[in-house]
Amino acid sequence: LDRFGFGLETQTLGRFTSTTSAIKAQTENKTAKAAKESKTFQAIQEERREQAERSVLISCPSKINENTFLDDLSKHGTINKHFFYNSYGAYAVVEFSSRESIASLKESTNIPAVEHEAAVPFKSRLLSLKWPGSQSSNHPMPKFKVQSPLSINEISQLLSEKDSIDEQLQCLTEALELTEENVRLRFLVCSLLQDIAGAYFPECIIRPFGSTVNSFGKLGCDVDMILDLDGIYATSQKKGSGLSLEYQVKRGASERAVTQSILSVIGKCVDQFGPGCVGVQNILQARCPLVRFAHQPSGFQCDLTANNRVAMKSSELLFLYGQLDPRVRHLVFSVRCWARAHSITSSIPGAWITNFSLTVMVVFFLQQRNPPILPTLDRLKELAGPSDKCVIEGNDCTIVSDLSKITLQQNTDTLEKLLQEFFEFYGNFPFNKTSINIRKGKEQTKPETTALYIQNPFETTLNISKNVNATQLERFVALCRESAWLLQQKEILNQCPDSPWGFAALLLPSVTSGAGVKSRRKRKLEPASSRIKNLLDSLKIKGGETVAKKGNA
Ligand code: GTP
Ligand code: MG
Repeated sequence: LDRFGFGLETQTLGRFTSTTSAIKAQTENKTAKAAKESKTFQAIQEERREQAERSVLISCPSKINENTFLDDLSKHGTINKHFFYNSYGAYAVVEFSSRESIASLKESTNIPAVEHEAAVPFKSRLLSLKWPGSQSSNHPMPKFKVQSPLSINEISQLLSEKDSIDEQLQCLTEALELTEENVRLRFLVCSLLQDIAGAYFPECIIRPFGSTVNSFGKLGCDVDMILDLDGIYATSQKKGSGLSLEYQVKRGASERAVTQSILSVIGKCVDQFGPGCVGVQNILQARCPLVRFAHQPSGFQCDLTANNRVAMKSSELLFLYGQLDPRVRHLVFSVRCWARAHSITSSIPGAWITNFSLTVMVVFFLQQRNPPILPTLDRLKELAGPSDKCVIEGNDCTIVSDLSKITLQQNTDTLEKLLQEFFEFYGNFPFNKTSINIRKGKEQTKPETTALYIQNPFETTLNISKNVNATQLERFVALCRESAWLLQQKEILNQCPDSPWGFAALLLPSVTSGAGVKSRRKRKLEPASSRIKNLLDSLKIKGGETVAKKGNA
C-alpha cells in the first residue's frame, strides 16, 4: 500500500465520515445525453449498467490532491471518468475502463481494524481512502458536483431573470433534471446493491426504474430499483443433450409469497451487511412489496422491488414520450414543479396525485392537441417490430423501441400556450364521468366511481390514481383554474427581474385552493410584489365564487 502513497479500506457497516461541507457548484453535462439520443431505451440502460460495474465509490478527504489520487488509482488500469461530490463527507466516483481494474484495486484494499466494534468482512466497491498525514494541502481542491436540487426560492429567482415563459420552462428543466453524474451515481448504487443480492442469486441484476430512467427525474428524487431474476430462468432454459435435470427448489404459496420471501432476505442482508445502507424497512404487505432504505454515501432514498417488469415497461414508455418532442419534458417538469409547490403532490404516500399520474395526465393532454403532439399507446404498439413483442403476466406491453419509426405531425404551439391550455383542459375536465386513457388517446366513460380514473397503460383494468380522493382532486382543479386565470392577466406577463413573474408567479401560494392554504407547510418565499398580490386578491373576489362552484365538477 505504501507504494501507492495512500491506503484504501473496504467500508464496513457502521463506519462513515460524517463531516458535511456544503460546496455548491453548478454542473451541467448534457453532451453524453445528446449522444445517446438515437439509442434505444434498453441500449442506454445496458451501457450505464456496464459502466457502473466498472466503477467504485470512494469516501475521501475533501482536501484531496486530485492528481495524486488519480495517478495512484491508474496503477490498477485506465480511468475512463471520475468526479467528486459531497454527501455527509466527500466522495469520488471512479470508472475504470475494464473490470479487471476493480479486481486489482480490491486486491490491494484492506478490511479495516475496527476499535471497540467488529467489522462485517463484506468486500464491497464502497471504499474509504486513508490519506497519509504528510500530504501537502497546497494544491487546488477538486470540483465537487452538485447532487441536490435548487429550492423553490432559488428557482423562482432564476426564472424571473428570463425573457419569456418559454425560456422559463426550458430553464426550469435544466435546473431540475438529473445531471449526468447523478445518473451515474444512481446506477452505481444499484450495482453495489447487486453485489449483495448476487451473493444469493449470482445471475440477478438490480435495475433502476421510475424517474431515474424515464427522463423526468429531478435531482433529489428517490431511486426505484427492481431485483431482476429473469436471467436465472433464461440460463435454466438451455437444453442439455444428455439427462434432463432440474434444480430442487423450495416452493412458495404464490408468486407474491416468493417475492416477499426473497425481498425479506435481501432486505436483511442490506441491513446487516450493506455498508452505507441505513434505515432499512421491509414493506412487504404493500400492493407491490418493497424494501426501503437510505444509501448514506449517495444520499439516495431507495425502494427495492422485485418481480415488477410492468413498472420497467412504464418507465420505458414515459422515456419514449419524453424523447419524441422537447416540449414534453419541459411541460412535465413544469407541471410537477407547480404541483409540488402547491402540495398537490407529496413525498409522503396518501390520497395525493402522484408524479406518475401527473406525467400520464400531461401525455394525455398532449395527445389531445390539434394536431396531436404525442401518439397514442396503440399507435406505438402498431409500429413495433417483432423483437419489440413483450407480454407480461398476460398483458400485452409491446411498444416500438426504434424512435425513428415514429412520425409526428407538425405542431408549433409555444410552451406558454401549452401550459395555459393544460390548466384550462384540466380545470374543466369532466372528471366525474370520464377517465383518462393514453392507450386510445381519448376520454372514456369511467368504469367505477373513484374521484380520478387514469387507466394503467399496460394493466388496462387498473386505475393508477385509485388513491386520489375527491378533496385532492378538487384542489388540483381549483389550482388549474387559478393558474389558467393568472396566465391570462397582462400583469403577470410583465417581465420583472426583481419579483416573480410568468411561471414563477404560478409557484406563489394560492388563494383559492381552500384546504391547501392553511395546511401547507410554511415556505420562505419572498413576498409577492404588490401587483401579483393584487391580482391574487382580485381573483379571490372575482373568481373565487366561480371556482368554488365549479370545483365540485
Ligand atoms: P418520483 O416521484 O420522482 O419518484 O417519480 P416516479 O415516476 O419515480 O414515481 P414513483 O417513485 O412513485 O414510482 C416509480 C415507478 O413505479 C413509476 O415511474 C411507475 O412506473 C411505477 N408506478 C408508480 N405508481 C404506480 C401506480 O400507481 N401504478 C402503476 N402501475 N405503476 C406505478
Ligand atoms: Mg421514484
